[in-house]
Amino acid sequence: MADLSVQLASLELRNPLLSASGTFGHGLEMQFLSPPERLGGLVSKTVSLLPRRGNDNPRIYETEAGFLNSIGLENRGIESYLESTLAEVADADCVVFTNIGGEREEEFVELARRLEERDEVDALELNLSCPNVQGGKLPFGTDPATAESVLRRVRDVSTKPLFAKLSPNVTRIGDMARAVEAGGADGVTAVNTLLGMAVDWRRRAWRLATKQGGYSGVGIKPVALRCAWECANAVDIPVIGCGGIANAEDVLEFLAVGCAAVQVGTASFSDPGLLGRLAGEVSALLDEHDVASVRDFVGCMDRPRPAKV
Ligand code: SIN
Repeated sequence: MADLSVQLASLELRNPLLSASGTFGHGLEMQFLSPPERLGGLVSKTVSLLPRRGNDNPRIYETEAGFLNSIGLENRGIESYLESTLAEVADADCVVFTNIGGEREEEFVELARRLEERDEVDALELNLSCPNVQGGKLPFGTDPATAESVLRRVRDVSTKPLFAKLSPNVTRIGDMARAVEAGGADGVTAVNTLLGMAVDWRRRAWRLATKQGGYSGVGIKPVALRCAWECANAVDIPVIGCGGIANAEDVLEFLAVGCAAVQVGTASFSDPGLLGRLAGEVSALLDEHDVASVRDFVGCMDRPRPAKV
């Protein structure tokens, strides 16, 4: 059996398979379909300082190849997360990431401060890339200096491993990866959703109340794969690939271009048991191709081809 264990900064994961923020609840909502002991890690929905009701409906629209969302970071806020959700995940048998987000740098800093003493949280993922607040302006997601600054300030108050979730809505994502690395990030998640839009021309109606939203799912996989590869070649910290991953073949594609781990997002909505099955399926594929360990396989696209693969 192939060794699936991976190391993400100081974190040891049993396998490279994580849930993507916003697609798997906050805690253990999916545990009966994808038990934590079969995953590398769980990533929470974005938690903000204050409760947020999110954007008006409609805020989800299914497209031919994925879907558009404009949730607007709906969540109950950090108080509720600390009091209820963390009690739930305390015994989760996998690495726990809390994804944090805000509209101002100070909000990220305060959130990191509030989570610092909580041992239930193994790492923070900073959502620098939600396209559904401030009219899609992506205040932290498109300017390297701003992204570096927020990382620096969070680094000052947090000893936890910090992962920056980046937006694909930029010209050179490698520059963003380098900026967050310079700010003290321990890893990069590439990528969040692409800005998109859908209309019903017959009714002259927008499909989303906010007109534009974040596009995810199988349609974005080639874009996400290119972004993840660009990040992996730009920085020395680990990259977690995300975007359109829906089966074991997809997982191996992201690992092959240099990702140390992957997140499964939109595919979990139609198949919440997928994440729990993937380790077995990835392992079977690696065995079939005589690959003894995921760590040896990561980044193999940019290395000479092994005989049997
Ligand atoms: C949302 O809540 O609007 C989606 C979160 C994200 O894309 O970061």
